[in-house]
Amino acid sequence: MDSYFKLLADNKKWASEKLQNNPNFFNNLTDIQKPDFLWIGCSDSRVPANEITGTNPGEIFVHRNVANLVVNTDVNLLSVLDYAVTYLNVKHIIVCGHYGCGGVKASMDNTDYKYILNMWLRNIKDIQRLYYDELQAIENEKLRYDRLVELNVKEQVMNLAKTSIVQKAWKNGHSPHLHGWVYDLKDGIIKSIFEMEAGTHINHLYEFDFK
Ligand code: CO
Repeated sequence: MDSYFKLLADNKKWASEKLQNNPNFFNNLTDIQKPDFLWIGCSDSRVPANEITGTNPGEIFVHRNVANLVVNTDVNLLSVLDYAVTYLNVKHIIVCGHYGCGGVKASMDNTDYKYILNMWLRNIKDIQRLYYDELQAIENEKLRYDRLVELNVKEQVMNLAKTSIVQKAWKNGHSPHLHGWVYDLKDGIIKSIFEMEAGTHINHLYEFDFK
C-alpha cells in the first residue's frame, strides 16, 4: 500500500475510535474554537504539539516553521499571532524549540543552503552574534548547540513581546503570558527556559506608545 493511502485509512480508523469513546466528539468541536494556547513550534516531525502535551483537537492553536522562529516580517506567523491574540484571546503563547533541531544546527556552520534557507537561517546566526561571548565560552560543541537552541527560544519569546499585537493586548490589560520551552527528543520531556508575564516591560526602544 502506498504510504499516503495508509494515512487516509488510519484517519478513518481514528475517527471511528473517537466516536466510539465519545459520540459527540466531533459535534463538540464543530461549533466553536476557543483554545487557551498558541503554540509556535518547529516543523520537525518529531515534535507534534498535541501529542507531546497530551492535548486534544480544539485545545491548541498551532503555527510551526523551521526552528520555531518569530520573524517580524513573516506575514504567515503574524496572521496566526494576530488571530490568536486579538480574536481568540489565547491566555498563553508557547514557543517550543527542541534539542537536536536541524535548523539551529544548520545555522552553526558556513554551508550554503541556497537562497531561501540561507535567508531563514540568518535569523539564528544573528542570535549567535548577540550571545557570541556566552556561546564561545562553551567548549563542547554539543553543549554549545544545546545552549543555542535555548537562546533561540528565548529570543523568539522576546520577538513576540516586540510585536504591537502582543503589546496592544497587554496594554488592554489581558494576556497572553509568554513561555519559552525546549523539548528533549531523547526523553520526551519539555523544559521551561524563559517566561514572560503579560505586561512585562521590555527595552523601551521596542515599546509602542499606543494612543
Ligand atoms: Co527543529
